[in-house]
Amino acid sequence: MAVQRTFSIIKPDAVAKNVVGKIVSRFESNGLKVVASRMKHLSRQEAEGFYGVHRERPFFKDLVEFMISGPVVLQVLEGEDAIAKNRALMGATDPKKAEAGTIRADFAESIDANAVHGSDAPETAAIEIAYFFPACEVYAGR
Ligand code: TYD
Repeated sequence: MAVQRTFSIIKPDAVAKNVVGKIVSRFESNGLKVVASRMKHLSRQEAEGFYGVHRERPFFKDLVEFMISGPVVLQVLEGEDAIAKNRALMGATDPKKAEAGTIRADFAESIDANAVHGSDAPETAAIEIAYFFPACEVYAGR
């Protein structure tokens, strides 16, 4: 499998719980390297734009409110099969359904406050990385 990049957000609930390091440690110990990283309190416009594909979904308004409720950590992760690997480390969207040992099972409370975001495909990864990071702020991982 080729080396890929994926986009990650450590969401406001996990930042508030002070588990940023624990989450990043899971990435690092599973072969994902942080190649861009920034802490940011998203504006409403930034959060709405990021989750634009969900605009018509019933949870959209609450999702945006949650994402702007506190600072987040934006990261680009690089590694073999990074997109699927990160999704596996994250666990299911609903932490109650997430496999034991996944980030969401261990650190998330609910489907709306679920600790992390991770890109779900190469196309979305490229769009999401470019949304927050200019190319000059993403570093080569090797
Ligand atoms: P989605 O892209 O389906 O999940 P994932 O983050 O696992 O890729 O949904 C985006 C976010 O929207 C999800 O992380 C939390 C929120 N959400 C809800 O609040 N309620 C819901 O029923 C769903 C499906 C998502």
